[in-house]
Amino acid sequence: MKNQESDFSKIVDAGVSRRRFLQGGATAMGMFLAANPVAQAVAASTQPESKLLGFTKVATSTADTFVVPEGYVARPLISWGDPILKGAPAFNENGQQPASAQAGQFGDNTDGMSFFPLTEDRALLAVNNEYTNYKLLFDHKGQAMTADDVKKAQAAHGVSVFEIKRTADGWDYVSDSDYNRRITAYTEMQLTGPAAGHDLMKTGADASGTKVLGTFNNCANGETPWGTYLTCEENFNGYFAAPGEGVELDQHQKRYGLKAKDRGYQWYKFDDRFDMTKEPNEPHRHGWVVEIDPMDPTSTPLKRTALGRIKHENAAVTVADNGHVVVYMGDDERGEHIYKFVSANKYQPGNNAANRNLLEDGTLYVARFDAAEGDVKGKGQWLELTYGKNGLDSSNGFNSQAEVLIYAREAATVVGATTMDRPEWVAVHPQTKTVCCTLTNNSERGVKPGQPVGGPNPRAENKYGQIVRWREAGGDNSATTFDWDLFLVAGNPTIHKDFYAGSANINDENMFNSPDGLGFDQAGRLWIMTDGKYSNMESYAGMGNNQVLVADPETGEVRRFATGPIASELTGLTFSPDQRTVFIGVQHPGEKDKPSHFPAGGNSKPRSTIMVVQRKDGGIIAA
Ligand code: FEO
Ligand code: CA
Ligand code: CA
Repeated sequence: MKNQESDFSKIVDAGVSRRRFLQGGATAMGMFLAANPVAQAVAASTQPESKLLGFTKVATSTADTFVVPEGYVARPLISWGDPILKGAPAFNENGQQPASAQAGQFGDNTDGMSFFPLTEDRALLAVNNEYTNYKLLFDHKGQAMTADDVKKAQAAHGVSVFEIKRTADGWDYVSDSDYNRRITAYTEMQLTGPAAGHDLMKTGADASGTKVLGTFNNCANGETPWGTYLTCEENFNGYFAAPGEGVELDQHQKRYGLKAKDRGYQWYKFDDRFDMTKEPNEPHRHGWVVEIDPMDPTSTPLKRTALGRIKHENAAVTVADNGHVVVYMGDDERGEHIYKFVSANKYQPGNNAANRNLLEDGTLYVARFDAAEGDVKGKGQWLELTYGKNGLDSSNGFNSQAEVLIYAREAATVVGATTMDRPEWVAVHPQTKTVCCTLTNNSERGVKPGQPVGGPNPRAENKYGQIVRWREAGGDNSATTFDWDLFLVAGNPTIHKDFYAGSANINDENMFNSPDGLGFDQAGRLWIMTDGKYSNMESYAGMGNNQVLVADPETGEVRRFATGPIASELTGLTFSPDQRTVFIGVQHPGEKDKPSHFPAGGNSKPRSTIMVVQRKDGGIIAA
């Protein structure tokens, strides 16, 4: 792939120090102001017409609707609370349905999802249900929690698997399919890989350290070439508490954001697993990638410890040319890292019995991005996180590979990984195998120690985010070195003329903040979903509600495809294999008491919903 020169690198190449910009050096700023409009104009006039993007751009919106381009239709497929297990009741918005009802209904706050074909016209969707909002879940809004309420909240989390079938006007879900399944915060799962059975994994309920109940805060996802679904545990820390006077947490707990004080879920009150004074090891059993066989509703989900314990965003899977399976993963927190797993064994096409456990054994790496002072492109290295290598031994507090994986963040610090601006989704281009990762924003960049401004994180107090892109040495996704640049830097060119205006491919008609969801379609279009500020004011003026954009990786053009309802985030994206349907998740419409009634309108309670989007002429999406 041709590397698109960014506005930044042109300026940098012109010999202007980026650091001086950030410090507001008068000379540098003057040169920037002079150079920037020219750079933008040149970029606009020489940009070839995209052959990939064939849809009419959508304007920003602050309306309580889901907007798609002219010539497209969008309709709801399923909303939080719709029944997916036989016998489950219909959703009632009174907030009084018991845990047993929620356990048979679609979970809350739809997130990452994957499409698994059964036949031409039937498929399974596996969907993450990331979290729940007590103000919407309970009539008492979380003010009078009972044991059943905790169970209900736990049932609103996890994963939903359900059948969908093609109809004359799109796809519908099948409410009574034998495939349908709910996986919740109390479904039994197995720990596999090097950390399974370690003393740090043992609890009062599980002396073996291999059996764990549940998955929660399932953010984004992945799918394997052997037909399994990967669900990624993100902010698991928020569900634990250590009640009592003066409980001090240790350095490991602090690094993973665990806090003594409950953050509102109150699970510890009725479920001892979430009380760290009783079960200090339970948090070690969360923060993993979980592999699920969606085709077998009786299968046990497998937590894959070889992939490391972090606040996982997604798991982008590709098979390297040499047959090793590679999984790219972001750790979404300010100043955390980007990881990659390379399987020990090779993928064997057509032999899924052999492929089943490829994620059980392999090598975990973490990324270091190198750049010359002020440069926004450079080389990088994958640093191995293996016990006994790179200082990962008792001199730094590591006594086994299990400890390296359970405390992967701390291991990453020991080996010198680059602190990033909140790594979110990673996506691998289907043909070129170039990799992109959204770095959503970072208020601590240039503010907190250990988070210096530079390289792929070029702006202090980064409110807008950027997308870093890399190509592995020799095009081999299992390689240990790479070249990187920035595919785009989000910003607001209507109110900024400096770095915060964004890169040359950002303009007043496609601007956005906080890129989060990311994925390539079969033709190589890059789909970008935002989870940002929707105030439409000040720094975010003119950006409107959260949105979906599609980019052409060759030309760098970015075009808005969809906008979400009030106070929603658009997250979760998957396509039918014919590329004529895209499923887009609408998460948390109406959060923070904002006035959304999506999708039913009127005075209804807002509900997280998956939208089915198609072209009226039946054509390929975005083409
Ligand atoms: Fe669940 Fe980082 O978003
Ligand atoms: Ca996300
Ligand atoms: Ca996010």
